[in-house]
Amino acid sequence: MEKSRIIVALLACACVFPAVGRGEDVHPITHRKIAQVMGPGGADWLVRPEREREEHPDDALDALAIAPGSAVADVGAGVGYFTWRLAERVGPTGVVYGEDIQQSMLDQLKKNMQDRHLANVRPVLGAIDDPKLPKAALDLIVLVDVYHEFSEPEKMLERMKESLKPNGRLVFIEYRGEDPKVPIRPEHKMTVKQVRAEVEPGARHKSESRDQAARELAQKSSNL
Ligand SMILES: C[S@@+](CC[C@H](N)C(=O)[O-])C[C@H]1O[C@@H](n2cnc3c(N)ncnc32)[C@H](O)[C@@H]1O
Repeated sequence: MEKSRIIVALLACACVFPAVGRGEDVHPITHRKIAQVMGPGGADWLVRPEREREEHPDDALDALAIAPGSAVADVGAGVGYFTWRLAERVGPTGVVYGEDIQQSMLDQLKKNMQDRHLANVRPVLGAIDDPKLPKAALDLIVLVDVYHEFSEPEKMLERMKESLKPNGRLVFIEYRGEDPKVPIRPEHKMTVKQVRAEVEPGARHKSESRDQAARELAQKSSNL
């Protein structure tokens, strides 16, 4: 029941908010249709009060066991709904890069961080093929409801891998494509199989802990 409400909201988002970029391309490996980029009209929806009840963002981050002092990037951060949670977790000795390709999203992200007196967030204006993050510097990169919008997914993956430290983790949180009851347009959700097929061919950092985190997140998602 909870999941249905999430999906209806996402479907409304896809229909109502003006999108930017193109949406007709397909991924060269899985041939999934790439979704359009959510435009600035979706900003308020990203911080809707019911989102916490629907998506349990803190449970998702608990599963990642983020250590204080970590260097983290929230790629496709939007207005910072996950960025401020990450900033609270890494604390004053850590840093969070809140990256997005839309300056209007970053302007709202900055305000949201100021309102919460968080000084450890660095907004980054990226490009569709380059998040412009520091190299070999990050313990964790998180992408929440974002990867399916990448119009240059392979270039983005290469750049993000370059930004990870040797044991860094790249985490995808997406609406589950495995669940046929999720009544959302297919290009707005992904299966674990799709993510693995697209991400692992060039992966330098396969690890059991990353797979375990994915399983935990998938389990939490299926319990929503
Ligand atoms: C559905 S919103 C999700 C925002 C945020 N992660 C959240 O969960 O609240 C998707 C965001 O991804 C951004 N985006 C799309 N393609 C991107 C790319 N290639 N690099 C960085 N951000 C991108 C969009 O600008 C938009 O802000």
